[in-house]
Amino acid sequence: MRVRAALVLLPALVLSAAASEVRPARDHLSPELRAQQDDPTRHPGWLWVDEGEALWSRGERSCASCHGAIESMRGVAARYPAVAADGALLNLEGRIERCRTEHQGEPGFGHESEPLLALTAAVAQRSRGMPVAVAVDGPAARFLEEGRRFYTTRQGQLNLACVQCHDGNAGRRLRGDVISNGLGTGWPAYRLDWNTMGSLHRRLRACQLGVRAELLPLGSPEYLAVELYLASRANGLPVEAPGLRR
Ligand code: HEC
Ligand code: HEC
Repeated sequence: MRVRAALVLLPALVLSAAASEVRPARDHLSPELRAQQDDPTRHPGWLWVDEGEALWSRGERSCASCHGAIESMRGVAARYPAVAADGALLNLEGRIERCRTEHQGEPGFGHESEPLLALTAAVAQRSRGMPVAVAVDGPAARFLEEGRRFYTTRQGQLNLACVQCHDGNAGRRLRGDVISNGLGTGWPAYRLDWNTMGSLHRRLRACQLGVRAELLPLGSPEYLAVELYLASRANGLPVEAPGLRR
């Protein structure tokens, strides 16, 4: 069924290299979802934000013991993914995991784990409304290029590239969704279809599944690079995390 839905779209697909206009993710949400995303009292993702804020100051070597109040994280998420001092590209989850293992001396929380999603949501929320501002030059340039290549390369049995849906067909409907410009600004997000909070990489796996491609592991170099590329397209647009999605 999925295959047929995508095939109907095929004749309309145009491989356009650049978007004529990249619109904020929220512009593509239904009015109800948009209102709910804006309202913490009706946004189930806020349970994760609250949990993350509690985790922030828990334990002897808490995040707060080094960073102070979580308000110090204002603007941080808007700069991620970013290249760390050792040359690795880290997204916000990866940065938090490093603090967990290197600074707290604890085993990592693990991808999609409750505490990692909660801390990521709580930190990201501190940048809500601030313009995305990832660095794309210097050591980031190589990763940006890798991400751009991933974004524009056809993949899967349906032989579709990210760009074909998210630039060429943004605004059109596919399987009950309105295709957005595929930005990462609202992630991690609470997805109703999942009935839980999830990471951007989990969302990317859903897109790969949709084109019948081989799914990459969460945190894979390809996903990190494309996350940076998505953020570069979103530079200047507001951080929306935690998002709310259908
Ligand atoms: C022992 C001190 C220490 C603890 C505990 C710690 N961090 Fe860090 N954190 C750092 C340092 C130092 C940096 C700067 C990068 C580096 O040198 O590793 C950093 C960087 C960060 C950054 C990126 C900031 C930026 O401006 O780019 C985030 C986000 C972060 N930490 C989150 C956390 C979270 C969440 C926790 C708790 C799970 C935590 N940290 C626990 C010391 C700590
Ligand atoms: C067959 C069309 C199609 C392809 C190809 C595709 N996606 Fe998607 N993608 C969707 C649909 C539909 C959604 C859900 C609606 C939306 O948010 O755009 C989505 C959602 C997303 C989102 C979440 C946007 C948000 O704000 O919630 C991101 C990010 C994304 N895709 C990135 C990618 C990347 C990167 C690729 C290439 C690996 C890709 N997509 C390939 C159709 C596609």
